[in-house]
Amino acid sequence: MPAEFRFDDGAAYDRYMGVWSRTVGSSFLEWLAPPKGWTWLDVGCGNGAFTRMIAERCAPAMIHGIDPSEGQLAFARTQLPPAIARFEKADAMALPFGDDSMDAAVMPLVIFFVPDPAVGVAEMARVVRAGGIVAAYAWDMPGRGFPYAAVNDVLRATGIQSPKEANPDASRLDRMQELWTGAGLHDVETREITVERTYPSFDEYWEIILGGPSAGQFLRAFSPEERERFQKLLRERLGIGDTRGPFALSARANAVRGRVK
Ligand SMILES: C[S@@+](CC[C@H](N)C(=O)[O-])C[C@H]1O[C@@H](n2cnc3c(N)ncnc32)[C@H](O)[C@@H]1O
Repeated sequence: MPAEFRFDDGAAYDRYMGVWSRTVGSSFLEWLAPPKGWTWLDVGCGNGAFTRMIAERCAPAMIHGIDPSEGQLAFARTQLPPAIARFEKADAMALPFGDDSMDAAVMPLVIFFVPDPAVGVAEMARVVRAGGIVAAYAWDMPGRGFPYAAVNDVLRATGIQSPKEANPDASRLDRMQELWTGAGLHDVETREITVERTYPSFDEYWEIILGGPSAGQFLRAFSPEERERFQKLLRERLGIGDTRGPFALSARANAVRGRVK
C-alpha cells in the first residue's frame, strides 16, 4: 500500500484536522494580535480552516491561500468569497508572489511537510514587506504533540508504517527559532499551545480517522477481525476503556513569529 499523505478530501479533512486547527489557530491569532486591514498569505492553506479564522477575526484587506492539493483548495473556495480570499495551487518552496507584497505570511500545520523548511521560511520572508509578520504553528511531532499520535503508535505496533512528514524536526521549538533567525527575521519568539478536543463517541472518532489523510487509507482496508483488534488496541492506547460516550484528547503545537526588518 502506498504510504503517502492524501490531502484530497477537504470536507473529511475538516472533521479530522480542521476542528483541531481552528482551536490552535484561535490562540495563535490572539498571540499575533495583528492590526486590521492587512493583506495575508496563508501558506499550505489546505481546506481553508485557518484562512476562515483570519477572515473572521482580522478584518483583512485580502487573503491569498496557496496549497498543492486541488481537493483541499476546492473546499476552501466554498468557504470564502473571492473578494475576501483567493486560493491557488502553489508550493511553499516557490511562492507565486512578488517581494514585499504581503503584510503577513502564516504557515499553519505545514512546515513539517515542506521539503526544505529553510527555503519555505525564506520565501515567506521575501514576500512580506518590512515591518510585517512571518509566523507558523505545527504539531510538536518529535514531542508527541500530534493529536492522532496514538493511532500511529497502534499502526506501528501492527506492523504498518504510516506516512512520515518530510521534516518532523522542523516542528521543534528550537528548530523553529533557528529557521526564523536563519531567514533574517527579527524579534523572533516561540511558544507552546496546548489544546483539547472532545469526541462525542469512539464510533465517531473512528469515522473521523477513517477520513483522515494518513491512517485512514490503511484502516479502511481492514477486515472486520482486523478492525476489531485494532480498535481494542487503540482504546487501550487512548486510555478510554470500553467507554461508549464522549472522551477528550489533548494535543500540543509549537508556534513561532518574527518580524521582517
Ligand atoms: C495538515 S494540513 C494543514 C492545512 C491548513 N493549514 C490547516 O491549518 O488546517 C497540511 C497542508 O499542507 C499542504 N502541503 C503539503 N506540502 C506542501 C508544500 N510543499 N507547500 C505548501 N503546502 C503544502 C497539504 O496539501 C495540506 O493541505
